[in-house]
Amino acid sequence: MKKLSLAIALLLAPTMAHAWPWSNDMANQISIKPQESVDQANPGMNPFPKRSVPVSGSTVFIKDQQAANKMANPVPADEKSIAQGGRLFAIYCTPCHGQSGTGDGLVGEKLLMKPWNLTNSNDMHKWDTKDYPDGYIFGYISLGGAVMPSYANDLTATERWHVVNYVRNVLQRSQVGQTQAQAK
Ligand code: HEC
Repeated sequence: MKKLSLAIALLLAPTMAHAWPWSNDMANQISIKPQESVDQANPGMNPFPKRSVPVSGSTVFIKDQQAANKMANPVPADEKSIAQGGRLFAIYCTPCHGQSGTGDGLVGEKLLMKPWNLTNSNDMHKWDTKDYPDGYIFGYISLGGAVMPSYANDLTATERWHVVNYVRNVLQRSQVGQTQAQAK
């Protein structure tokens, strides 16, 4: 019996050790914590830097790509949304997918897996809305792919839908992708 309780105690030891004070020693030290004042005369939280803006809205949780495919686009593809999507696409997507959206960006050239073609000259699939609805593109931006990073932290959900509207209404309707495919 003694042996058994010793064995049980030994088994439990690692779990208990984890809760002992030394497990958070490193975090609790005399250092300045995030947003803490460096000025001892004025302790408390630091004021936010000038011109900093709070992030609006909350994160939209997306389980996986399949769940994203089913999401309906809540942002009407009007001129304003498409223009905003274009500005965001230029910042976040052109390095890899290129201005044309065909995947000819300068960063994309360096990747082992080339960025896929977002226009209808894509030879893997034709972007028909049945198999590749708006939610598919929204999901890809939010979750990322094997090589492509996730943009859920950089773009709010609404901003991501603006990008979707731009991809759908400008890139997939423009002649750029098509003429490039014909030239192949
Ligand atoms: C660092 C390079 C990089 C950036 C930046 C990038 N992508 Fe990608 N993207 C890729 C790569 C590489 C793939 C190929 C698939 C993978 O990585 O899983 C891809 C695939 C995709 C796909 C799937 C295409 C298909 O045919 O199914 C979509 C949609 C997409 N990207 C949209 C975007 C959008 C929109 C942005 C900007 C918010 C963006 N990507 C930014 C590299 C990038």
